[in-house]
Amino acid sequence: MKAIVMNKVGSTDVMEFVDRPEPGATPGNIVVKVAAAGVNFMDIGVRQGMAWTEMPNPKVLGVEGAGRVIAVGDGVGEFIPGDRVAWVYAPGSYAERLSIPASSLVKIPDGIDDHTAASVMMQGLTASHFATDFYPVQPGDTALVHAAAGGLGLLLTQIIRRRGGRVIGRVSSEDKVAIVRKAGAEHVIVDSEGQFSGEVLRLTDGEGVNVVYDGSGPKTFKDSLSSLRRSGTFCWYGPVLGGPGPLDIMSLPKSIKLGYAVFSDHIHTPGLFRARARQLFRWIEEGSLKVSIGGNYALADAARAHADMESRTTTGKLLLMP
Ligand SMILES: NC(=O)c1ccc[n+]([C@@H]2O[C@H](COP(=O)([O-])OP(=O)(O)OC[C@H]3O[C@@H](n4cnc5c(N)ncnc54)[C@H](OP(=O)(O)O)[C@@H]3O)[C@@H](O)[C@H]2O)c1
Repeated sequence: MKAIVMNKVGSTDVMEFVDRPEPGATPGNIVVKVAAAGVNFMDIGVRQGMAWTEMPNPKVLGVEGAGRVIAVGDGVGEFIPGDRVAWVYAPGSYAERLSIPASSLVKIPDGIDDHTAASVMMQGLTASHFATDFYPVQPGDTALVHAAAGGLGLLLTQIIRRRGGRVIGRVSSEDKVAIVRKAGAEHVIVDSEGQFSGEVLRLTDGEGVNVVYDGSGPKTFKDSLSSLRRSGTFCWYGPVLGGPGPLDIMSLPKSIKLGYAVFSDHIHTPGLFRARARQLFRWIEEGSLKVSIGGNYALADAARAHADMESRTTTGKLLLMP
């Protein structure tokens, strides 16, 4: 079978489209035929040597996808061949087939297609965690959402809106404004230089926002802090794009809450994972959460998908089609 492997840490040049042995259905595991694999910044981080360094190279990239069960290992009772399933945090998803622990799978309802399901595993669970656990958005709250036209930003914007919050989105170019407004943002700021807090304060009558969702690298950190209202919450989440460096706690605005949010710390059991995934599927089925797929790539073109994501020109979810 075909897969995308990295042989060493590096740029997109280290990604190779190669033949790999067929995976087997070992005890507790399930072999799936991949219909769509999600592209995430985390994959870029793995390629750049920021994560999964304990896994030896060559390794198959990718953590997320959807597809069909084709073989079931011993001790698995809840899935049978033919079931449509989705997953996240399953190493090796950039492949035609893959063996996954049954505990990492959720069944896809009939009303949801594979591409849509694959699109909300990482970014949907993350967005739902950010807006409901890390900072439970209340009606009337105002949130600043960075990279609002990205896969995560568009889902987060909609979840904040369905909880009754207002969204100010920040994007790096004018051509992303329309899609963010369509997702429900009241205002969209175009900025790629980390100079947006003046506009945020103007839009909030000088008060600032209740919560900032920022995974956009070191450049946005300072103005994100300045955009917070008294006792606001800073949800920081972007290790791949980089952090602010060492922080002096006494230099921070008084009484703010700042933390590094990772959905898997809250959604940490198979039961929680499936319950949250089903909630996302329900929102999609009832029409209150729309998935925007901004790019479909052949599996062989995974390197181009990474390059496009890093170029800041894409919107929505990027998928690979084995
Ligand atoms: N902590 C967690 O649990 C968790 C989970 C998922 C993702 N993340 C993080 O969330 C962020 C978004 O990742 P994603 O996979 O979900 O993709 P995504 O939302 O589709 O993000 C793509 C967006 O990132 C921005 N971007 C791209 N390159 C950039 C750069 N060099 N500097 C600043 N911004 C850049 C672009 O927005 P603009 O050009 O419009 O700014 C682009 O639209 C990443 O930092 C990722 O590590 C964290």
